[in-house]
Amino acid sequence: MRRRPEVLTEVREAPEREKATRVLVEHHEVLRGLMRRLLATPRSQPGRRRALADELFDELRMHEVIEEEIFYPAMRDVTPGIAAAWSEHRQLSDQLAALVRADPRTGRFDRELGVMHDALESHAHLDEEREMFPEIERFADEDLLVELGDRLRDRLERLRSSRRTRMVLRLQRALLRRTAR
Ligand SMILES: [Fe+2]
Ligand SMILES: [Fe+2]
Repeated sequence: MRRRPEVLTEVREAPEREKATRVLVEHHEVLRGLMRRLLATPRSQPGRRRALADELFDELRMHEVIEEEIFYPAMRDVTPGIAAAWSEHRQLSDQLAALVRADPRTGRFDRELGVMHDALESHAHLDEEREMFPEIERFADEDLLVELGDRLRDRLERLRSSRRTRMVLRLQRALLRRTAR
């Protein structure tokens, strides 16, 4: 009789399911990594700075989309921090626009990058990871958090591989730079 190794393969290929809070922290790490690389790239490499700023813009915009479409609405009744988080996203978006507009060869870019770094740490690390997420993990249903984790990961992958999303983000960046003073 033939053996059937397919079952084992299926087990190995099944994605590991994680709570929504874990999925979001992992994406925060991606954002932090980009920020670290930006901070380590000198003014003498403006092309690389610009490419990293573009990548940060796209990833942060997608992060805000998945939180605002899926996570925040589902957690609205679990923690009072959601309303504040929403308005912090608006501030982050404004700062992101200021960074993308800044010429990467100038001190202004460094200043906008510094403000961006502080704003991102304050929101993602202090407000979400240190306050909101532990509260959510304590009070929200575990199965719901795992289901939301699947949805967040799936939505993020779809956004990343969507040609339309990529085009819209590219247009937004181009428009910001065109209106830069
Ligand atoms: Fe957020
Ligand atoms: Fe976040």
